[in-house]
Amino acid sequence: MKRVLSGIQPTAESFHLGNYLGAVKQWVELQSEHDAFYCVVDLHALTVETDPAVLRRRTLASVAQLIALGVDPQKCTLFIQSHVPEHNQLAWVLECLTGFGEAGRMTQFKDKSQKSGSDRTVVGLFTYPILQAADIMLYQANLVPVGEDQRQHIELTRDLGERFNSRFGATLTIPEAYILKSAAKINDLQDPLAKMSKSAASNSGVIDILDNPDINAKKIKSAVTDTGKEVVFDEKNKPGISNLLTIHSALSGKTIADIENSFAHKGYGEFKSEVADVVATYFTPIRKKAEELLADSQGLQKILAEGADKARAVASATLASAYDAIGLVPPRKR
Ligand code: TYM
Repeated sequence: MKRVLSGIQPTAESFHLGNYLGAVKQWVELQSEHDAFYCVVDLHALTVETDPAVLRRRTLASVAQLIALGVDPQKCTLFIQSHVPEHNQLAWVLECLTGFGEAGRMTQFKDKSQKSGSDRTVVGLFTYPILQAADIMLYQANLVPVGEDQRQHIELTRDLGERFNSRFGATLTIPEAYILKSAAKINDLQDPLAKMSKSAASNSGVIDILDNPDINAKKIKSAVTDTGKEVVFDEKNKPGISNLLTIHSALSGKTIADIENSFAHKGYGEFKSEVADVVATYFTPIRKKAEELLADSQGLQKILAEGADKARAVASATLASAYDAIGLVPPRKR
């Protein structure tokens, strides 16, 4: 069975539609036929300044949402990154193989650090992709289901894995990104050329999956659309409508062509109302389930403890091989 690993940051109260369609939906699909490891990457979330109580709450809320969305702890290993200290340990090894310039070329780092200025950019943001590489290769993952924005980080992971193996002998599996073309980039409803993002300046174009359906319906109905009135998929000339078609199709299971046909003689208004309905119908039961799971904190803790044990068994074996390969003397067993 091929191994899969992916992670998501607990940096918001709710995942947004991009997180779900770009990544988590694929996590759920892959877990049955693969040996899947999924984690809430709380250490990565430390690159954003957050109140401790808020971080704690969001981390558990993320776990509850993943399960409500279909990530099944019976079928995969679900855990919190900081429960497995080997992530930081392998990250250090990989940091010592990464060029300063190489890390500086990561576009997410460049964008974020440019926005905040160098004094307000933490070093953790610079090494962030290297910790991500450790997350992946610690589990010898073959596939990494993510959205398009993570492609460069997976490329870096591959480069670091190849560098490690060529210097120290075959130790780490070289992973591939698993990026679904149709949902690789869900865009902001108010700015359909930019990706939907937790860090967007305004929340009005972001659909939070746990949000009240009325709020989401309002956002969808006021989505920026294009001149013209035909509901057709044309990313270049109609990015707003194309984005809504992608969302509809991914959630309703209908093909884009079928949706286009059913709106052949109707306008944008009716189309947007249907997208709002599709979103509400899909996420209402999930919101309820996430609330129930979150109320049972003992149950969540148990799942996480089991997940951490399973994850550590794999992680500690990879770390021991990597330490050995680079010449660190293992502690003597007594
Ligand atoms: P994060 O938490 O920002 O996002 C989680 C996942 O959601 C995807 N995504 C999107 N997909 C399509 N359209 C969008 N608008 C959109 N916005 C977000 C992201 O691509 C991601 O797959 N660095 C990672 C977290 C991470 C990780 C890992 C991922 C840490 N370690 C190891 C994979 C493997 C991140 O920032 O995700």
